[in-house]
Amino acid sequence: MEIFLDTANIEEIKKGASLGIISGVTTNPSLIAREGRDLKEVVMEIAGLIDGPISAEVISLEYEGMVKEAEELSKLHPNITIKIPMTWDGVRAVKTLSQKGIKTNVTLVFSANQALLAALAGATFVSPFVGRLDDTGHDGVYLIEEIKAIYENYNFKTKIIAASIRHPLHVTQVAKAGADIATVPFKVLTQMFAHPQTKEGIEKFLADWQAMKR
Ligand code: E4P
Repeated sequence: MEIFLDTANIEEIKKGASLGIISGVTTNPSLIAREGRDLKEVVMEIAGLIDGPISAEVISLEYEGMVKEAEELSKLHPNITIKIPMTWDGVRAVKTLSQKGIKTNVTLVFSANQALLAALAGATFVSPFVGRLDDTGHDGVYLIEEIKAIYENYNFKTKIIAASIRHPLHVTQVAKAGADIATVPFKVLTQMFAHPQTKEGIEKFLADWQAMKR
């Protein structure tokens, strides 16, 4: 499973990029607004840091507006992937964009049927929101399992991005469920490194080394 960063913060992306294991970035209007910057400016800066898909979301809710925004954004850089909300117009737009060879990421997916529609439209990626589904008392990880089974049954090429990841256990669970990608906030990426026994082990090795040198 690949790991994308779910952020529009350049400092976080620079730190993540330095690891060499982050293969993409997802943004959304809330994340861009949090930075108080222009969407096009931010995605271009991200494209200079990460060599992989960078999701930029359209604001329009109507088919024509979505396609127009998508065409403009996709011209910015070959790695720009157009995030489109899971609606009637959104699915129409994804179908049109896929026929034009423009990469898409269908977002705000909360059911297996929504993921099926996205795949039928030729979406490059689908983003089921694991954490937000958990918040409503449903099982976000189980949704990933369902989508994986459906995509395998029919050999759909659409890749599953497990989104709305809230903690390291989510990452393990969606990896086991077969997600192609987990897009994680920077905080979760740092939490994935941590284990008290790793820290204790390093301290003990260093202490033993120092003692031998005395
Ligand atoms: C997905 O691409 C979204 O940007 C994101 O994962 C939403 O996560 P949230 O529920 O933490 O806002």
